[in-house]
Amino acid sequence: MKMWDGRFSKQSDKLMEQFHNSLPFDKKMIEEDIDGSIAWAHALSKAGVFSEKELSLVVKGLEEILDDYNNGKISFLPGDEDIHMAVERILIERIGETGARLHTGRSRNDQVATDIRLYVKKSLGRINFLVVNLQKVLVERAKRDLDIIIPGFTHLQQAQPILLAHYWLSLFFLLEREKKRINNAVTNTDIMPLGAGAIAGSGFNVDRTAIARELGFGSVSQNSIDAVGSRDFILETLSVITSIGIHISRYAEDLIIWSSREFGFIELDDAWSTGSSMMPQKKNPDSVELIRGKSGRFLGNYTRFATVLKGVGLTYYKDLQEDKEPVFDSIEQICLVLDVFSRVIETLAVKTENIQKDLDPFLLATDLADYLVRKGMPFRMSHKVIGKIVAYCIEFSRQLDTMGLDEFRKFSDLFENDVLELFSWRGAVDRRNIEGGTSKESVLNQIKLAHELVK
Ligand code: ARG
Repeated sequence: MKMWDGRFSKQSDKLMEQFHNSLPFDKKMIEEDIDGSIAWAHALSKAGVFSEKELSLVVKGLEEILDDYNNGKISFLPGDEDIHMAVERILIERIGETGARLHTGRSRNDQVATDIRLYVKKSLGRINFLVVNLQKVLVERAKRDLDIIIPGFTHLQQAQPILLAHYWLSLFFLLEREKKRINNAVTNTDIMPLGAGAIAGSGFNVDRTAIARELGFGSVSQNSIDAVGSRDFILETLSVITSIGIHISRYAEDLIIWSSREFGFIELDDAWSTGSSMMPQKKNPDSVELIRGKSGRFLGNYTRFATVLKGVGLTYYKDLQEDKEPVFDSIEQICLVLDVFSRVIETLAVKTENIQKDLDPFLLATDLADYLVRKGMPFRMSHKVIGKIVAYCIEFSRQLDTMGLDEFRKFSDLFENDVLELFSWRGAVDRRNIEGGTSKESVLNQIKLAHELVK
């Protein structure tokens, strides 16, 4: 028996039932479904469909279904097509004819759009919370590592010395923009579809603004076709999650490299590493590898749903049911990624001695070129001169920081005694004392700003 089978002379094929049954995954939205139904019942009662007594019967019935579900006391039937039908069936079984009035003026099309918007909105809030938490961890980490100088890499080649704190904060500011993307997704999700009916708008004149207020929506949809047919907010959510996932993946990649023996810059805590079943010596950075790997999954979910959506005409078609699994999966996984990554950053050990040993004096080549510029040489020429000095060092196995003044002067007579003062890591870092630069002062300013941003 189906609620919609009045015009049917035959039962659904068992395979068809199995094929279109969304209950196994959409039962996740039972709370949203019941909240939506309670708000709808209130609106129906104001429109005269329920008496006060009937209304409280319906509301109590719905609340009990949620309680029973949470206590594992609900059994679904094979014929329950989705969470909306299942809740309604149980309600009717429990309270009879009054329950059968709940779907007045409503369609599963506006119902499901409402449920999923509520669910996604709530989830975006959770993602935002975890992003802020990661930001806080990064600021604490930056404060702890404030005096550690590392070689900064471009092209995975040593480039210029930077503060490790500066590196951690780079992710902080990237996440600041992810929060704006999350916020935008929230705004576009925060629109209440109930009252749109199946496509044309409900035939019962319910107070939509009151429903929106009750459910905590910021606004009410302005077009019933858009309300039941649009899933742009799902796509946007999948896109934000993909963006966060991809960016954290890039940092995970750095940490994987840094934890190799060859780099030895960091060691992940044992709690966030795993061993090998064969090689007893192994300690693998599985946590960050998986974080990197999950980014493929986020993009996959985005692509999967974008592909579904592009062929669907702009009202409700059953294809839209395919929105749930990818968005549920991406939400669940990004929460894990954010949580695990925060813990990894919090607990990893920085191997300061190894980093110190690895700092290559060539990291100061730009400072030498800048030195000649300050003595009056155009930068393009000083770049060449220092390039020649570097080539000389390589050929004669010399290092920049052990060259004498007379040796420097073979390349340019602008070199004077003060050139030897250039060779300090701290000095090189602090010369980048510009807004956004790596000097300690600049990094302290970043930390101050970061504190304000996550307060
Ligand atoms: N389970 C469906 C979904 O998730 C609910 C809406 C069904 N609407 C319909 N007209 N068949 O999309």
